[in-house]
Amino acid sequence: MGTSVPRGQESKNKGPGGAEQGDRKSEVQVEGRKNLPFTDAVIHETQRLASILPIAVPHKTSQDITFQGHFIKKGTTVYPLLTSVLHDESEWERPHSFYPAHFLDKDGKFVKRDAFMPFSAGRRICLGESLARTELFIFFTSLLQHLRFTPPPGVSEDELDLTPRVGFTLSPSPHKLCAVSCM
Ligand code: HEM
Repeated sequence: MGTSVPRGQESKNKGPGGAEQGDRKSEVQVEGRKNLPFTDAVIHETQRLASILPIAVPHKTSQDITFQGHFIKKGTTVYPLLTSVLHDESEWERPHSFYPAHFLDKDGKFVKRDAFMPFSAGRRICLGESLARTELFIFFTSLLQHLRFTPPPGVSEDELDLTPRVGFTLSPSPHKLCAVSCM
């Protein structure tokens, strides 16, 4: 993704995840998320831009409905196109760029956005959303606390190809990366 968490923007004594830097025993606590708005914004922005499940599973309309001027009969199969919301040009200042400020106010506080719906919306929203969000936070902050990721020697961040592998989900293409311990 070509960015790292600038620790200076968050607590002076704490790295991503709220654990003390340099303390090998400290573990990331999910409660730390509320004190780490930039980290939270980076994770949200990664999910928004990556849009790993561009089309949610099909649903049937439970009643006749008119949506954006189109009449849809009860029982019609519909495919929610989540990417159309996650990359909506009328919702996001920089819809096709990695821009964590989409989730920060002018004081650097985290802001929720209605158009952030990688887990879909409504009654059939992803049942695993809470678990997935917790896992992403713990995984991401633990990795960044211990390792600094860079492209391999001779490759610049701009040369990294973010084109996904297309299947039912969008997955990252394989990359060579250096992971250097910062302990
Ligand atoms: C980043 C990770 C994940 C993403 C982006 C994601 C996204 C989604 C989406 C878009 C749907 C379709 C919702 C709809 O029908 O409109 C869905 C459904 C579902 N997800 Fe996830 N999911 C994730 C992780 C998980 C995990 C970790 C679990 C379980 C532990 C899970 C369990 C489910 C279940 C059970 C459904 C079906 C819900 C239903 O049909 O009522 N998901 N997910």
